Amino acid sequence: MSTLKISDGVVKDEVLVLGLASTNSKGGIAIEAGDMALDTKTILAQLVDMGATGKADEITKLPGSNVRLMVFAGLGKKSATYTHETLRRAAGSASRALSGNSAATFSLPAKSLAEVAAVAEGAALGAYSFTEFRGSTKEDFKAPLKTITVHSKLASNPEAKASVVRAGIIAKYTYLVRDLINTPPSHLTPDSFTKKMAAVVKTAGGAKAGLKIQVWDEKQLKAQGFGGIIGVGQGSANPPRLLHISYTPKGKAAKRYAFVGKGITFDTGGLALKPAAGMEAMKSDMSGAAAVSAAVVAIAELKLNVAIECWAPLAENMPSDTATRPSDIITIFGGKTVEVLNPDAEGRLVLADGLMKAQSSKNKLDGIIDVATLTGAQVIALGTRTSAVMTNNQGFSDSFLEVAAQCGEQFWPMPLPEELRASLDSPVADLANIGDRMGGMLVAGLFLKDFVNPELPWLHLDIAGPAYNEAKPHGYTPVGGTGIALRSLVTLAEQA
Ligand code: BES
Ligand code: MN
Ligand code: ZN
Repeated sequence: MSTLKISDGVVKDEVLVLGLASTNSKGGIAIEAGDMALDTKTILAQLVDMGATGKADEITKLPGSNVRLMVFAGLGKKSATYTHETLRRAAGSASRALSGNSAATFSLPAKSLAEVAAVAEGAALGAYSFTEFRGSTKEDFKAPLKTITVHSKLASNPEAKASVVRAGIIAKYTYLVRDLINTPPSHLTPDSFTKKMAAVVKTAGGAKAGLKIQVWDEKQLKAQGFGGIIGVGQGSANPPRLLHISYTPKGKAAKRYAFVGKGITFDTGGLALKPAAGMEAMKSDMSGAAAVSAAVVAIAELKLNVAIECWAPLAENMPSDTATRPSDIITIFGGKTVEVLNPDAEGRLVLADGLMKAQSSKNKLDGIIDVATLTGAQVIALGTRTSAVMTNNQGFSDSFLEVAAQCGEQFWPMPLPEELRASLDSPVADLANIGDRMGGMLVAGLFLKDFVNPELPWLHLDIAGPAYNEAKPHGYTPVGGTGIALRSLVTLAEQA
């Protein structure tokens, strides 16, 4: 994890990051150096020679005169102000391009507090690497930036300092989400997931920080009626778990939310075995659990004035002689029965247990949010960078979408059409785990809706595509686990 600083002093680092915008369609460019004084005339000519256009995600490096290296990050079209997300992404691509350097100063066109915060966040989020499992090739990989300095006139403003601290916390827990996702199922099982989180909770201060952790093992899950988690996990030699992390703030909480995250440490499809091609991406099927678990600890570290009950049902979906068969009937926590017609529709089964358990707590909730890599249909509908929001409460959804947009996390509202619900009817159980294939994302949402009290504001976030980047890195987003949903969850708590 890199160190984040803010300074208005002279640039001591040898690497300076600046912005570059395009001024017209004929290749015109303009340097956006924040409040850094530069000999722009010579530099502009060099940038033109280099073919720089200033488009987003473009990085152009030039040797500096006062500094060793100047790095120009594309901002897109020149503008009086840039959106926070434009600044975040530009800082992130620069920071990714600077692996192998130890320190850099970022002087991007950021004037307001929020803009400075966006630069700090983007730069920190871009400085990520995952080399834990490299052996002989570890040395070939250049380490990310160790020190990131945001150059700003606001350096002495305590709020600016606080926003840089916040950016550091956001980055730390985003790294945790990415690490958990990138860790292969050989090394991340339901049990080791809970142990990793226990260590994280302890480091964050444990009970002193208001954090409590509780884990159900397979015997307890069976005895207490968690038929979804047991049913999905029973085919695996790595037994399932239910992880609960709660955060109670010092004062009276403004709101109390429950988070429930899908934690399938590997999804083979079970007896409905998935095709081999691409199955490796299913190590990311615990992205929802990772996001909610990291979010609750981040919220505690930020000492936010909200109470959070975080639930992560964890299981490995494997085919074996003990696996759930198509036509098996399981009983979800609370008593509803489900006919498992397709053991590859497993996420909704563990989430049903998680949602029911989350609502059984004596503390009254103001809202419940589940986060899941739930359906391939989500990716078909919205692509790999936009997640879906489904809800039983328009107001809750609207405020979440507003928060997500501020964070630069792309979410889009999706409906839960009542007429699709009938396709989940079962001739033998309360409902079946699959229905119409068309609108599969919505059908999955409707399944979950059956396990939510209609009075309780609920959001279902399907992050199947955006959780895991199988394409090229971009902005502050690396290949592999992205950490999507963490920032929106934390920011929602901040604004509660
Ligand atoms: N984990 C998958 C969904 C998924 C697909 C996540 C692609 C990320 C990328 C989920 O458990 C699944 O297999 N869903 C099935 C449901 C179907 C059987 C109704 C799907 O989407 O095909
Ligand atoms: Mn599946
Ligand atoms: Zn799955």
